[in-house]
Amino acid sequence: MKFTTPATTNPIDQLKVVGRATDRIDGPLKTTGTAPYAYEQNKAAPHAAYGYVVGAAIAKGRIDAIDTGAARRAPGVLAVVTAESAGKLGKGKMNTANLLGGPDIQHYHQAIALVVAETFEQARSAAQLLDVKYVAQPGAFDLAQARSAAVKPKDGKPDSKTGNFAGAYANAPVRLDASYTTPDQSHAMMEPHASIAAWDGDKVTVWTANQMVDWGRGDLARTLGVPKDKVRIVSPYIGGGFGGKLFVRAEALLAALGARAAQRPVKVALTRPLMFNNTTHRPATIQRVRIGAARDGKITAIGHESWSGDLKGGQPETAVMQTRLLYAGPNRMTAMRLAVLDLPEGNAMRAPGEAPGLMALEIAMDEMADKLKMDPIVFRILNDTKVDPEKPGRPFSQRRLIDCLRTGAVEFGWKARQPQPGARRDGRWLVGMGVAAAFRNNLVMKSAARVRLDGNGVITVETDMTDIGTGSYTIIAQTAAEMLGVTLNKVVVRLGDSDFPVSAGSGGQWGGNSATAGVYAACVRLRQAIAGKLGFDESQARFSDGQVSEGERSVPLAAAAFHGDVVAEDHMEYGDLDKKFQQSTFGAHFVEVGVDSDTGEVRVRRMLAVCAAGRILNPKAARSQVIGAMTMGVGAALMEELVVDRRRGYFVNHDLAGYEVPVHADIPHQDVIFLDETDPMSSPMKAKGVGELGICGVAAAIANAVYNATGVRVREYPVTLDKLIGGLDGKVMARA
Ligand code: MOS
Repeated sequence: MKFTTPATTNPIDQLKVVGRATDRIDGPLKTTGTAPYAYEQNKAAPHAAYGYVVGAAIAKGRIDAIDTGAARRAPGVLAVVTAESAGKLGKGKMNTANLLGGPDIQHYHQAIALVVAETFEQARSAAQLLDVKYVAQPGAFDLAQARSAAVKPKDGKPDSKTGNFAGAYANAPVRLDASYTTPDQSHAMMEPHASIAAWDGDKVTVWTANQMVDWGRGDLARTLGVPKDKVRIVSPYIGGGFGGKLFVRAEALLAALGARAAQRPVKVALTRPLMFNNTTHRPATIQRVRIGAARDGKITAIGHESWSGDLKGGQPETAVMQTRLLYAGPNRMTAMRLAVLDLPEGNAMRAPGEAPGLMALEIAMDEMADKLKMDPIVFRILNDTKVDPEKPGRPFSQRRLIDCLRTGAVEFGWKARQPQPGARRDGRWLVGMGVAAAFRNNLVMKSAARVRLDGNGVITVETDMTDIGTGSYTIIAQTAAEMLGVTLNKVVVRLGDSDFPVSAGSGGQWGGNSATAGVYAACVRLRQAIAGKLGFDESQARFSDGQVSEGERSVPLAAAAFHGDVVAEDHMEYGDLDKKFQQSTFGAHFVEVGVDSDTGEVRVRRMLAVCAAGRILNPKAARSQVIGAMTMGVGAALMEELVVDRRRGYFVNHDLAGYEVPVHADIPHQDVIFLDETDPMSSPMKAKGVGELGICGVAAAIANAVYNATGVRVREYPVTLDKLIGGLDGKVMARA
């Protein structure tokens, strides 16, 4: 099925199941510990040996020699895999560095060996016996230093120019020119990267934790140098990904190579201290934002530049993209520059581009409002646009940023905010409020599914879609139940297996809308097949309460499968509606913080997100997505920072003791409001993404609240107390 014209009324609009706050159908499996995560697939792949990954101890250079003799002779050891023993390997399309390094080393903790043994402890112990002689080379590890040598990225990331930015900016009566930095960040998901691999002849099955089953299948095949149909990927449950599991990583490749060498199933999990340098991370940015406005607050010029680094052949962090679409203004420019750094590979992390981009842009908007002596909400509303500001003939499919800001202002009690920084106190706490806009594009992706009706009236949905903790199982079940007119307990959902039809996968907040649209397409076909079997006119038949009816005649759905299961398969693909209309999701984040006037400690006191993101398929799961993203935004604002060792080229704080993320005690009560919206341009589901929207803008709202509380403007994330305390002296005196 191809989606080429705006959606009209369809069975989803009944909203008997879709759109209702629904508990996760996979909840009991998870709360009882019986959902098999990758490392626990012991039933599917019994008697697996254990693999232990060894990471490179240098950031750049080569392995001169690697002596595996002692490790091979150690108790219980079954095999040692190195680049030398593995033979020729290809490289996946999605990786910048090789997953198995050697002899050349491209980054610190790049995998250089897998030791396979009967037990985990034996593998770990033997791994210490590897004798590796390195020849280290100097590398570039400092973005600020490499910045001057940064170049325009090669593929598809051009500078944008509209009108005359330089002239308009120079002539603007009110101007801001400010630079901001965001640090390298790590996904730090709960479940480490983990895989079990087993060969059957020339075919390998890998039970893994991967967001994008089909990408993983293709890249693993390319890396192993085998045809794609010789690889099966199984990834039914994933303990968080945030972009860190979009691609096949070292543990999956090494499990496959280890299983081949040991001739039995092998399981490999990355240890926590390996994850930070071995896998991908969100690259640090240096961003410069310039805004020029007339005295009435209308933006006349807006410019955003971003510098980031990556390994040779890598990609920039696309931190300027939202600035092309978020605010009006006739004169505009954006540019990205990419420096070669020899740090571990940079790549997508929740809302890549927008998350760090809005961390800068939305402080800049606050600073500009301050200069204009305008309320920051009023300033944003004044500069709203209904069309793509670079291509005014191209409207947004839906754009309710103003509604988000206004609704949030009322619900959060914005009126109580003191425009003057440092004006509100609660004992020793300086109290402030901040706001930021949220913006994230809505991407639509081709997605297929297979649905089956059996003689018990049960609908089984199969698609290689993944559930990374987001609630995919549940919204897919809701979609099938709505389409076939059955209750949720009559639907079985099977996900995350490359034997199933290829889905959109989980990434870029496209999964919810795109994967359910694929299920919708398959269900349309199943309805046709069922109507045909039961002798109904498909266009007239009603599917409800487990019955199929037309006029006076009503037959149980299950009757269609009396002589055998009825199966249908289809996909949803897209025409050019996403080109004619800009599809984006919008929101507004409101935060109240307290800053300790003596120590500079920041505590978030209240948070509210208002989101306009199309139809919300499951308000309960969507709320969970948004509060999780808000929590991640608190981490970005106040804590998260991979600290670069600029001499040796690695992230120093590579565990959860040193890489701090928020814990429950850091997070106050959070409110989420979804505006009632449907977007007929997105798909027949009329839904859009929301899982990434929730993080976009949060960190800036917090930084803005800290400014409002203290009068100290921090432009270098994270906003830690050392950056505040020097500016608080006056406040402490005032208290005394
Ligand atoms: Mo997302 S960062 O595309 O998983």
